[in-house]
Amino acid sequence: MDLEKLNQTAQAIVAEGKGILAADESDSTIKKRFDSIGVESTEEHRRAYRDLLFTTEGVEEYISGVILFDETIRQSSLDGTPFPKLLESKGVIPGIKVDIGAKPLALAEGETITEGLDGLRDRLEEYRELGARFTKWRGVISIGKNIPSEYCLWTNAHALARFAALSQEAGLVPIVEPEVLMDGDHSIERSFEVTSRTLHAVFTELRDQRVHPEGMLLKPNMVLSGYESPQQASHEQVAEETIRCFKRHVPAAVPGIVFLSGGQSDEDATANLNAMNAMGPHPWQLSFSYGRALQAPALKAWGGKEENVEAAQRAYYHRAKMNSAARTGMYAPEMEREAVTA
Ligand code: 13P
Repeated sequence: MDLEKLNQTAQAIVAEGKGILAADESDSTIKKRFDSIGVESTEEHRRAYRDLLFTTEGVEEYISGVILFDETIRQSSLDGTPFPKLLESKGVIPGIKVDIGAKPLALAEGETITEGLDGLRDRLEEYRELGARFTKWRGVISIGKNIPSEYCLWTNAHALARFAALSQEAGLVPIVEPEVLMDGDHSIERSFEVTSRTLHAVFTELRDQRVHPEGMLLKPNMVLSGYESPQQASHEQVAEETIRCFKRHVPAAVPGIVFLSGGQSDEDATANLNAMNAMGPHPWQLSFSYGRALQAPALKAWGGKEENVEAAQRAYYHRAKMNSAARTGMYAPEMEREAVTA
């Protein structure tokens, strides 16, 4: 294993002003997204939609990497160029989601364990040949009455570390994603407590399983008020609590923390990231690895119609640019309006 190379790839993914597009929606998730715009989820529609995102001109100024899904890494742009090659040619690093989803955790009602470890070493080999240079695995933690259990936290942390060790062995940078869901009416203090317990388990397992912090990235939730909580924390409070939590648990040797958006509105996701970077410098780069918060306006503008491709690309480009500004703490909500009137 070449740690120097892993570290270089991780650093390139969190290069100044850049972040990740998460376009690794599974078949069932992309179907949900397409249902919301009344488009049938066929293989060709999925290909055309991803093609639109990946060929957006100039977006590579703000996007350093793209996370692909198993189907997508095997698909090609309209001119026949395989997607991983197309991305590489623009200086964008291709990555791949390698877990196969969260399944019910045995004897633990309401909790899940992420599967996909069996045969992973061979799959990683294939993905590397297809052009992937980094990987992603998502563990899911829910907040509720008496959950999460320690059982759920530690089994998910163990699986995340096994995935990370196998990825580093294969020369691929693991993006370790323990997502604490923000569904529910819990307070921001409760989010802090659960995120803290989660990160403790994850970094204990990563260390026990010999994962090199220099050659990985962390993809966590932000510490937010539950979405149904009557008391919603401000962007500044979210930034303070999130940083306080991560300073306790994430080694400074980890090159970057790339947040998921997790169902926040796109502008909230940008404003929260901006507030954190405005409080810097921090021991790690703080960046984004957004799915919905980068794609929502583009998906809506597209609506499955060829004539809307340019409008969709403009919408995606705009969100990428706003999040790039948030990387340096230079974002302001006025920039949203300026763009609309420009
Ligand atoms: P969201 O930003 O939509 O949460 O998606 C990121 C992701 O990759 C979830 O696994």
